[in-house]
Amino acid sequence: MANKTDIDTLNAELQDEEPKAILARIYSLYPGAAISFSGAEDVVLIDMASKLTDKPRVMTIDTGRLHPQTYRYIEKVREHYDLELELLYPEQASVARLVQSKGLFSFYVDGHEECCHLRKVAPLQRKLAGEDAWITGQRRDQSPSRTAVPVAQIDASLSTADHSIVKFNPLANWSSAQVWSYIRLLEVPYNELHDAGFISIGCEPCTRAIGPNQHEREGRWWWEEETIKECGLHWQKPSDAQAD
Ligand code: ADX
Ligand code: SF4
Repeated sequence: MANKTDIDTLNAELQDEEPKAILARIYSLYPGAAISFSGAEDVVLIDMASKLTDKPRVMTIDTGRLHPQTYRYIEKVREHYDLELELLYPEQASVARLVQSKGLFSFYVDGHEECCHLRKVAPLQRKLAGEDAWITGQRRDQSPSRTAVPVAQIDASLSTADHSIVKFNPLANWSSAQVWSYIRLLEVPYNELHDAGFISIGCEPCTRAIGPNQHEREGRWWWEEETIKECGLHWQKPSDAQAD
C-alpha cells in the first residue's frame, strides 16, 4: 500500500517532468491505472497514453446531464483511440429520489453539492474502491482552488485507513495554452463546444460559454461563489491539501 512519504518522494521526482514522462512513470508503477476523462481537453492524456501503451484504461462518468456534443465527442474519442471506454453511472434509485423530491434543477436553488455527489462522486468512489491509482486532467491554472495541485498525491477523499488510493495529475504544470498547442499540433480530436466559447466543460445545466477575459471557471456553476466551484471529485479538506 502506498504511503504518504513514498508518494511525496515520487511527487518530488516528477514535479518538473513533462506529462508524457509522468504517464510513463505512472504506468511503470501502476500499469492498470485508469485515466478519468471528462470529455474536454483532458483528451491530451489519452493521446499521450495511447503512444505509451496499447490499451490505456479510460473511464468517464456519465452523469446523465452531459451536453449532446459531449456524448458525441466521447464516442468519437472511443473510436479514434480504439478504447474499451469504462462508463460509470449514478445509482438510479438515489437520482430518482432526488429528482422526485426536488426536481431536475435543484442545484440552482440549493447548490450543486447534492447532485454532484450522487451523479459524479459516488460512481467514482464505487469504481475506485478496489483500485490503487487513478489519473486526472487537473491543472493548476484551471482554478483558484487548484493552484497547489501536485503531480502525485494520496487521494485523501477516496482512501481509507486500510487502502490508499493515489491520484496522479500529469498535467498539473501545464497551462491551458500548452494543452491547446498539443491538441492543434497533433490534430487531436476535441469537443465541438470549445469552438462555441466553452473552455471548462462539465454538465449541460451547470456549464456555459464565457466571454473575453473571463476565467475558464466562470462558466461553471456561475450562480455560486468562486471558492466552492469544485464538484467533489477533487475536493480536499484544507488540511489534506496542505499535507499533499
Ligand atoms: S470538476 O470537478 O470541476 O467537474 P473538471 O471538469 O475541472 O472537474 O475536470 C478535472 C478532471 O476531473 C478531468 O480532467 C477528469 O480527470 C476529471 N473529471 C471531471 N469530470 C469527469 C467526468 N464526467 N468523467 C470522468 N472524469 C471527470
Ligand atoms: Fe448535477 Fe450540475 Fe453536478 Fe452535473 S454538474 S452532477 S448536473 S450539479
